[in-house]
Formats: sequence, structure tokens, C-alpha cells
Amino acid sequence: MIENNAKKNRGARHNDMLISVENVSKDYRIGRHRLRVLRGVDLAVKGGEFLSIEGPSGAGKSTLLHIMGILDTPTEGAVIYEQENIASFGDRKRAYRRNRLFGFVFQFYHLLPDLTAQENVALPALAGLGIQRWRRGRKEALQKSRSVLDLVGLSERCRHRPTQLSGGERQRVAIARALINKPRMLLCDEPTGNLDTASGTEILDLLCRLREELNTTLVMVTHDAKVAERADRKVFMKDGRIVNQSRRQ
Ligand SMILES: Nc1ncnc2c1ncn2[C@@H]1O[C@H](COP(=O)(O)OP(=O)(O)OP(=O)(O)O)[C@@H](O)[C@H]1O
Ligand SMILES: [Mg+2]
Repeated sequence: MIENNAKKNRGARHNDMLISVENVSKDYRIGRHRLRVLRGVDLAVKGGEFLSIEGPSGAGKSTLLHIMGILDTPTEGAVIYEQENIASFGDRKRAYRRNRLFGFVFQFYHLLPDLTAQENVALPALAGLGIQRWRRGRKEALQKSRSVLDLVGLSERCRHRPTQLSGGERQRVAIARALINKPRMLLCDEPTGNLDTASGTEILDLLCRLREELNTTLVMVTHDAKVAERADRKVFMKDGRIVNQSRRQ
């Protein structure tokens, strides 16, 4: 069933919607030119939903995901969470909220090479700890990190550094890192894009299982139609706009 429900959701979104991107546009300046990469995007995501975002390269998928996760700010429009426009917060408040609300998983893992898997996973739990709470905080973060690595099936790899792990294992570490602060939402940008088919399927199965077990909301940018097939709702973007949506029957 194809539907264009951006407008339809507008009335209800503050009730059953977890987060909504409202009339968001994004411009980049290149020299004297202005490049508009998002053009008035409306997208509301329900708590617990698995939403995929597809579209050609350059359509604005990553830009939209970054704005939804308040990694980047829109030129116009709002990101509403619990009736607040979290995109309008100052840097510190935005960083604090981002770290608790969202977990990010990227195509190329972005793990720090000199840290072990356990230390990489612990990092978001250490953000913002003052000197006074550092020692105890670090111990707790490393303990939590162990249990999240266990959740993604990597308890035997805690002491490995990223170069000592396979691609699929590195992505599991990145997923564990995304989960350590118990976020409401996982925002994934082509999480299987750098993996062979078998490892990609394992990662997708893992994300789907974690979403069920932890009751997490999942938003996933993907070029892979098979990955998108698993989503509750598929959104298609082109030229900075959502051009179509379909819901799984
Ligand atoms: N920092 C930037 N400065 C200028 N232009 C940018 C910047 N970041 C992205 N763009 C441009 O914005 C457009 C959208 O980029 P975006 O990364 O969101 O696309 P995408 O849909 O994720 O593509 P892909 O599938 O290739 O990852 C592209 O044309 C890109 O060149
Ligand atoms: Mg992208």
C-alpha cells in the first residue's frame, strides 16, 4: 500500500510519534553558491518502528539521518521530541540529548584503532563525566561494555583491537557502542554496505533481534532492497524530498 502520509500524520504525531522531522530543509554553501540538499522534508517515526530510507546516491538520505539524530542542524524546520525542538538546542545541550536519545551505526564502523573492542564500546558512557566521577565511571562503563558485547555475541573478543576483528565483528562492536547508553533510537547509515552478503544478513538479523528485545526504534538508510524489505515502513527519497512511502502488509 503506497501512501503519502506526511500530511496525514501531522495532527497525530505529537501523540503516538516518537520523533518527527518537520518541514526540514538543508543548504550547503559552496563558495558563492547555495546547494539545497533537503527540501521541506516531513517524517514522523513511531516508537518501536523499523523504518528504512532508500534512494539514489546524493538524494539526501545521510543528511536527513544526521539531522534527525541532531548530529547536524537544519537550515529550516524542526526536529520534535517530547514537544521540544531538539534541533534548536545549543551545542552542549544537543550533545547531551544526542548521547542519550540516539545510537549511531555507520557503514565504516568508525572505531578507534588503538582501543580494544571493550574500550571502544565504553566511550559513549564516558562522555561528559567530570574528573571527580571519572575513576568510578570508567569502571562501570567497562563493565557495561562487557555486557553489551555479550548481547551482540562478542564476549570472547573484548580485548581485540579493530584490526584484529572481521568486518562483521567490527560492525557488532559499533552496534554495541551504539547501545551502551540504552538509546530510544538506533540510526543506521548503510550498516551492511561494507559487508559480504552473509555478514550483512547476520548484522541485519542482529539489529532486528535487538530491536525486539530492547524495544528500540530503528531507522536505517540502505541501498539494499532486501534489507528494506524487513522494515515496517519504507521511505524513498529523491533530490532532497520524500517521494514515496510504503508500509509492509
Ligand atoms: N558538507 C557538505 N558540503 C556540501 N555538500 C554536501 C555536504 N554533505 C553532503 N553534501 C551534498 O549533499 C547531497 C546529499 O548528500 P547525502 O550524503 O545526504 O546523500 P546520500 O543520499 O546519503 O547519498 P549516498 O547514497 O551516496 O550516501 C549530495 O549531493 C552531497 O554532495
Ligand atoms: Mg549517504
